[in-house]
Amino acid sequence: MIDKDIKEIIEGFVKKFPCRDSAVLPSLSLIQKKNGYVSEKDMEDLSRILGFSEARIFSAASFYSMLNLKPKGKYHIQICSNVSCSLTGEGPLLDYISGKLGIKEGDTTPDGLFSIEPVECLGSCGYAPAMIINSDHYENLSFERVDEMINVIYEQNITEK
Ligand code: FES
Repeated sequence: MIDKDIKEIIEGFVKKFPCRDSAVLPSLSLIQKKNGYVSEKDMEDLSRILGFSEARIFSAASFYSMLNLKPKGKYHIQICSNVSCSLTGEGPLLDYISGKLGIKEGDTTPDGLFSIEPVECLGSCGYAPAMIINSDHYENLSFERVDEMINVIYEQNITEK
């Protein structure tokens, strides 16, 4: 849902840019930052605020892998599925992490801690394999390093409870 505060910021984007189209991506990013993801209702509200069709908003929201159209885990893992990352390392990282967490791509663990999805090239081909956890970028990954990272996250979240 786009609340009053978010709506005011979006209206500020509209005033700031010479063209209303330029307000679409910052608005979607803002909605995701505030709500965790961009829901259908958010897109409907945004289309009304910006005066664009819902289809136009959806086409922008669904094009960018950094925008989530459904709730994700607290730690959203995006794993590069392109050539360099697929051919380096100990094997497909997506399969390894999927097996370790017991979820398929696009799913979230039952505790809501992790979600995983494949993404296109992350621009780290020379340091493959690569992945992103939320907004943090990781390169030169091994299964052992991934295990350590996931274990650290588990431990942090157990101590936070
Ligand atoms: S192929 Fe994986 S970062 Fe480019």
